[in-house]
Amino acid sequence: MTSMLLQLLDRFTHNAPLPDPLPLDPFPLFKAWYDEAGRAKQQPNPNAVYLATATPEGRPSVRAVLCRGIREADGSVEFFTNRSSRKGRELAANPRAALLFHWDHPDRQVRVEGPVTLTSDAESDAYFNSRRWESRLGAWASDQSEPIASRRALLDKVSAVVNKHGIDVAKLIAGVDVHIPRPPYWGGFRVWADRVELWQGGVGRVHDRAAWTREVVVSGGSVSSGPWTGTRLQP
Ligand SMILES: Cc1cc2nc3c(=O)[nH]c(=O)nc-3n(C[C@H](O)[C@H](O)[C@H](O)COP(=O)(O)O)c2cc1C
Repeated sequence: MTSMLLQLLDRFTHNAPLPDPLPLDPFPLFKAWYDEAGRAKQQPNPNAVYLATATPEGRPSVRAVLCRGIREADGSVEFFTNRSSRKGRELAANPRAALLFHWDHPDRQVRVEGPVTLTSDAESDAYFNSRRWESRLGAWASDQSEPIASRRALLDKVSAVVNKHGIDVAKLIAGVDVHIPRPPYWGGFRVWADRVELWQGGVGRVHDRAAWTREVVVSGGSVSSGPWTGTRLQP
C-alpha cells in the first residue's frame, strides 16, 4: 500500500473504535458507554431511551422512557411505566420490545431487542418509592394514554388523589416525605436482550458497528439464555 493511501485510510480512524476482535458479551461495553454518556455534561438525559412496541398484528409504536437499570450479569434493561398505558397493553399482548439509546456526546447508538417480563413487586416498589412525590401523585392521577377533557380536569384528578389517600399537603409542601403507595397498575418491565447492536459514529459515515445475538427463552416465571455470538456489520 502506498503511503498516500495509508494517509487516506488514516482519515477514517476512529477515536474509540469497537474492539477487534469483538468481546464475547456486549453488555460490559454497552454499560461502559451508558456510564460514559451519564458523565458527559452536554447530555441532558443520558438514560432516555426510545421504546418500540407493537400490537400482535404488527402495528408498531414508539416513545421515550427512562432507562432505570442495565444488568450486565443477565443482559437486561429495565424501565418503569403505567402498565395500563398503550405501551403496557401492547407489551401484555406481544411481550417483545426494541430499545434505542442515542448519545450525541460521543456519537453513539445502542439498539437492544428482546422478550419482556414484568419487574417484581419489590423492584417496582423500590423504584416508585425513590421518585419525587409529584411523580408518585402523578402516577395515581394519570390514566396514561387515555383521553381527558381538559388540563383542568387532569389537575382535578390530582386533587382527588390527595383527598382519597388523606395526604398531608402541608407536609409535602414543607418537604417532609409522606408515604404514597404504588398504584397497582404501575411498575417496571425488563427487556431481556437477544440482540444488541453497538454503533460508533465515524468519519465519512464509515462508522463502526457490531451486533450480538443469543437465544433467550422465557418460560413461566423463569428466563434462560444461551451464549452470545457477535459480528461486525457494514455501516
Ligand atoms: C425524555 C423522556 C422520558 C420519559 N420517560 C418516561 C418513563 O420513564 N415512563 C413513562 O411511562 N413515560 C415516560 N415518558 C413519556 C412517554 O414518552 C410517553 O408519552 C408515555 O409513557 C405514554 O406512552 P404510551 O401512550 O405510548 O404508552 C418520557 C418522555 C420523555 C420525553
